[in-house]
Amino acid sequence: MAIIIRGGTIVNADQTIKADVYCDEGKIKAIGLDLDVPSKTEVIDASGQLLMPGGIDPHTHMQLPFMGTVATEDFFTGTAAGLAGGTTTIIDFVIPNPQQGLMDAYKMWREWSEKSCSNYSFHVAVTWWDDSVHKDMGTLVREEGVNSFKHFMAYKNAIMADDEVLYNSFSRAVDLGAIVTAHAENGEMVYQLQRKLLEMGMTGPEAHPLSRPPAAEGEAANRAIRLAEVIGVPLYLVHVSTKDGLDEIIRARNAGQRVYGEVLAGHLLVDESVYQNPDFEFAAAHVMSPPFRAPEHQDALWKGLQSGNLQTTATDHCCFCADQKAAGKDDFTLIPNGTAGVEDRMTMLWTHGVGTGRLTPQEFVAVTSTNTAKIFNIHPRKGVIQVGADADIVIWDTEATKTISKDTHHQNIDFNIFEGRNVKGLPTNTICNGELKYADGELRVKANTGTYIKRPAFPSIFGALDKIAVKNKPVKVVR
Ligand code: URP
Ligand code: ZN
Ligand code: ZN
Repeated sequence: MAIIIRGGTIVNADQTIKADVYCDEGKIKAIGLDLDVPSKTEVIDASGQLLMPGGIDPHTHMQLPFMGTVATEDFFTGTAAGLAGGTTTIIDFVIPNPQQGLMDAYKMWREWSEKSCSNYSFHVAVTWWDDSVHKDMGTLVREEGVNSFKHFMAYKNAIMADDEVLYNSFSRAVDLGAIVTAHAENGEMVYQLQRKLLEMGMTGPEAHPLSRPPAAEGEAANRAIRLAEVIGVPLYLVHVSTKDGLDEIIRARNAGQRVYGEVLAGHLLVDESVYQNPDFEFAAAHVMSPPFRAPEHQDALWKGLQSGNLQTTATDHCCFCADQKAAGKDDFTLIPNGTAGVEDRMTMLWTHGVGTGRLTPQEFVAVTSTNTAKIFNIHPRKGVIQVGADADIVIWDTEATKTISKDTHHQNIDFNIFEGRNVKGLPTNTICNGELKYADGELRVKANTGTYIKRPAFPSIFGALDKIAVKNKPVKVVR
């Protein structure tokens, strides 16, 4: 059914205007004051509220098989929780096991994700290399709308990509017009430190951050950036958690390199003291990689977001419950890595970003939606409220408050890293592809109603620049 949202103020990343928005057939059809619409149109009164582009979380892991178990949040419950928090699109990850074909893994994830109830898309991880991976990357870009490939520089003996894999994959990506992304931690350093800490008798979660020092991120960020520089491929670093990683991004950006950085709501707002808690369940519930950090890193990350050196916010939503975390009771390296947040990202960012004056409402829209849409090439279909765009809209009450709790959240996990936090600024309604999916505290969702979002390859200018960088000789750029 068509919807008209009346009386609200539209906040896009580049302008704020008071206007009604008319949505039909999944699209925004008209924007203006006192719009005339067909009589059967559903009317939503948004007086006094903001209308913002639906959130895009570029980093989630629904029902991820990982570290001997499977994340508890599936694509239905996870996308529903996202909608309750104002997020209308997730970009999740296909992660093939080493030696598993990329297309094979991609088809598995597409099957699992059919139960989604919002928009969803996939980055595909390159965890190993041979000719079939080279071929499948081409099929994914050309036929399946995958324009980003992920590389885990950590998780040795599992999904870690070594320099050879990175080099081959980055080179293939640039030829295809795709962007590469990386989890930047030096996996060998982490592995050796883990062994050493265990030998020293440090078996509890307090050892987790010690095994993953900021230098591990700084080194890997630099390595990925330098490889991307030589190959000429755009690079997106996921979950930047330290000043060390951020400084590498700033250096590269100042040198003109196309490098982007993502920051997690968790890394901005939770610090490393959680690992000192003597309660194993509590500390283990916070075990994720990279770990939560000292306050000086959080300050740097906020400044990175404010300055535009970090462009996107995400959650790395990856749910493991207490019984799963218990696998690492006697050995912290066996605690499944992951924490939740897809439902809380927008309100935590608003409360601690806009509410503190660090971000303007327009900047909030940029870092929760628009920038991601641009970087992953789905703008202006997504990330903006304008005629012709998909009708993904969150109606936001800047005065609404609540206290976050695992007892009231919609996420399928028995813990919330933001437990007890008071937030101000919440969605009252979430519209996804023109359908009202969350209204006044109630989810109105059904499984299998989501939409897979294809993301086209980037224009060939990347390829042209790449050839200049690689061959180091003048190339005639034909446009
Ligand atoms: O701890 C995390 N982040 N788990 C999910 C996998 C990853 O590294 O993103
Ligand atoms: Zn990661
Ligand atoms: Zn992740």
